[in-house]
Amino acid sequence: MTNEALGEGRPGTKGRAGWTREQASRIERTDDTVAPIVYPPATEQIPEVHIWDTWFLRNRDGTLATVDGYRVCFSLTAPSDLLPGKRHDVATIRCFYSDDGRNWHNAGPVFEDALGQRQWAGSALYDDDGSVYLFYTAAGEEGADDLTYTQRIVGAGGGSIDTADGFVLSGPWTHHELLQPDGDRYEREDQSRGMIYTFRDPWFFEDPETGETWLLFEANTPVPEGSDVCGGDAALQEFNGSVGVARSPTGDPLEWDLEDPLLDAVGVNQELERPHIVYRDGLYYLFISSHLHTFAPGLEGFDALYGFVAEDLRGDYVPLNESGLVATNPENAPFQSYSWMAFPHDDEVLVQSFFNYYDFDGDTLDEIAHLSESDQMRRFGGSLGPTLRLDVEGSRTRIIGNLGHWHIPLDGETLPLTDRELIRRGKG
Ligand code: FRU
Repeated sequence: MTNEALGEGRPGTKGRAGWTREQASRIERTDDTVAPIVYPPATEQIPEVHIWDTWFLRNRDGTLATVDGYRVCFSLTAPSDLLPGKRHDVATIRCFYSDDGRNWHNAGPVFEDALGQRQWAGSALYDDDGSVYLFYTAAGEEGADDLTYTQRIVGAGGGSIDTADGFVLSGPWTHHELLQPDGDRYEREDQSRGMIYTFRDPWFFEDPETGETWLLFEANTPVPEGSDVCGGDAALQEFNGSVGVARSPTGDPLEWDLEDPLLDAVGVNQELERPHIVYRDGLYYLFISSHLHTFAPGLEGFDALYGFVAEDLRGDYVPLNESGLVATNPENAPFQSYSWMAFPHDDEVLVQSFFNYYDFDGDTLDEIAHLSESDQMRRFGGSLGPTLRLDVEGSRTRIIGNLGHWHIPLDGETLPLTDRELIRRGKG
């Protein structure tokens, strides 16, 4: 099929960046994009709850915050005796803190009264006046008897951190529903034609060039039945992931207006998860996580971190490494990590993710559910994985090493020499 037939350059998408089938068809594992195999961490590094999607408390300028010497992160968590596949149904946000960037302590659940039946991923802002905001996804409707899959974007204000006697994050929090899909730019639940729709994972970003304040999120582009998008191919149209964005007219973290998506992937992929930006060398690097099973028919991708780069926030994003693939799991452990989050450190980009299913080389994640319960439990990492180190140059990236599990270097921390640097040194 030609790109034309697949709907590239389709009317109505002018000026909006897209991840095309042609680009995605170039996805392949290379030495520069495959992470090393992950082994379980030392027992003392395993938290007492299962954790997965994780985000760090960040300053307005996007750098990781240090509060009186503490790094702070937030994770989706579930009891560690629960079957890992059930964790999304009970997810609770917990806070963790560390004074060395290596050993993390559980500060407990953040909220008593969060919106939604459960909470999914988000981001956290340490504002200039020391107040803490959490953005999260309220999944399901509070009060409903059954588990529902409605997703709303919520902001919680009122947080503060007290370190006079250890580390304490407390409220009182106020929860504000910030955004719902409008059905026009962003698909609503009742418009979804394939897999479950997405409207989640809010991520705060202040543009260093314009000073404008943005909230990115994972969404879908509505494609009505009978549309001629993707050459009218209904099977492809169901895969309609997008990176949504809202703008705060005043910079207030609790006031947002929906705008057109930054990028979409109609006919390519259904889930562009946890979108976030790293600004570097005057360029905007837009990263997302996605799954093997959310690629449209005819495309083969992996559970991986994908990325795009543009000269402006609203630019015409070019896929990194030509296909978009930035970091994936080895072929013999294809689900060992997920939910990658990139952040700058010195002249590198570091990438944190959670340790997912290991010692498992099935073809799909679904196969996990067919293992015995004890096998499912044994194979789930449920903690943070090693931090990857990326060399980023223009539209090229290269994995150049990794740090330990849950090692998030402190400001100014010098990283060990990479393999390449050691070899180069040997020559000198
Ligand atoms: C990615 C993800 C997020 C969501 C969370 C729910 O791992 O699907 O998009 O917020 O998991 O558990």
